[in-house]
Amino acid sequence: MSPTHRWHIALALILLLLALVLGVLAAFAYISPSLGDALPFTQLRPAHVSAALFWIITGATAGVLRYKDDVFPLSDRPFLHRAFLFLWTGTLIAVFIAYGLKCFGGREYWEFPPLLAVPMLIAWLLLMADYFRAWLRRAAAPPLYVWMWTTGIVFFLITFIEQNLWQIPWFRDTYMRELTVQWKSNGAMVGAWNQMIYGSALYLMVRIGGDEGIARGPRAFLFWFLGLSNLMFNWGHHLYNAPTAGWIRHVAYGISMAEWILLINIIRGFKGKLDEHRRHKHLTTYRFLIGGEFWVFLNLFLALLMSIPAINRYTHGTHITVAHAMGATIGINTMILLGSVAWMVRVDEDGSPARWIERGRITAMGSLLVFWLALITAGLIKGYRATALGITDHQQLMQPVQPSLVAFTIAGIGVFAGLGVIATCLLMVLRSEDAAHPNTNEP
Ligand code: HEM
Repeated sequence: MSPTHRWHIALALILLLLALVLGVLAAFAYISPSLGDALPFTQLRPAHVSAALFWIITGATAGVLRYKDDVFPLSDRPFLHRAFLFLWTGTLIAVFIAYGLKCFGGREYWEFPPLLAVPMLIAWLLLMADYFRAWLRRAAAPPLYVWMWTTGIVFFLITFIEQNLWQIPWFRDTYMRELTVQWKSNGAMVGAWNQMIYGSALYLMVRIGGDEGIARGPRAFLFWFLGLSNLMFNWGHHLYNAPTAGWIRHVAYGISMAEWILLINIIRGFKGKLDEHRRHKHLTTYRFLIGGEFWVFLNLFLALLMSIPAINRYTHGTHITVAHAMGATIGINTMILLGSVAWMVRVDEDGSPARWIERGRITAMGSLLVFWLALITAGLIKGYRATALGITDHQQLMQPVQPSLVAFTIAGIGVFAGLGVIATCLLMVLRSEDAAHPNTNEP
């Protein structure tokens, strides 16, 4: 693996550690007013959410750029990749400095000063140039994961531009117009990174199982088509504040859930055919992929409940929305990405970090379940009191919610510890001599 790839992976893991630290601090600011005075929630929340999203995007691109070297290699020096990484890292540092200095100005999830979107956009164009230079040498009928990476990379650009349209005054003319474009693009961007992440999961399943069949054929392409439709239309269920027709929302929900059902189906097909020897050879990556599958199930269940109008009436805008967002970004995206990093740094070739990573994974999975259930409980209590009892006074509304938030914070420390151990172990393996050698992960 080239030094650029190693830096790229290291940056992703550092962002994960940063997201974890800021997340725990934000949770303490939630429950302890004295900490909230020193470190305000309004400052911690955007910093935590941005670090989490940057971890996902940086981790996803680290995988795609690494795997493309196996699928369509180019022998020359990775200048464009290096330029991307340099600019991307510099911009992210500027983002966190801005948050530290209380300089905001952006929009939900991207609350840093909007000027920083310019170097970010240039960095993305460099990444695209690096990817497409190699992509031109692809085989005539590439497997599905290549389609997914390409779709994800292109749509990230489109949704990133769309997300910044609010900077043009016309889009700010009416609140509804701005809100609609904002949430539509945020939803579609999730679809874009899911294409990169699910594409990498599929690639890993092919490599681990040695069966390219799961990335070819009608079922595989139906999965891609659903992912693409989801990316384009899932905005329907993100726009609760906008007066859209109910059927648009339900179709959007249906597509999102169908994508998850097909993902479960593909992972099950892979598990069913995998022989014991191959499973053991790549056990760490395998376990993270299966962990991701478990969270697809749980999130599907929650999404089904949230989509029932009678339930949504109580849950919308409560902690259940946060449970949905963190359940998916930690349970699904982070689990798959950690499996991908474990594969890239060849964790399974060395017993000791693999053992620690497994302990971290079990801690994170168990804590995340409590964390997620605590958020759902908090959301149900708050939703019932606000909607059914009509309580409007914030303090009175939140009083019985407080114990669930304490449980959420304690479980959050467990998530922090589990994922923190994994990220630290992966960084240590990355630093070791071994990882500097060319990847020999042949199944
Ligand atoms: C990989 C790790 C993590 C990821 C990817 C992640 C992701 C996210 C995302 C996407 C949101 C925004 C949710 C929304 O707008 O609905 C969020 C909010 C939040 N997260 Fe995390 N998170 C992570 C870990 C943690 C941990 C360990 C804690 C500690 C308890 C935590 C505490 C919070 C808090 C307090 C909020 C704000 C919730 C609110 O606004 O009501 N996060 N996180």
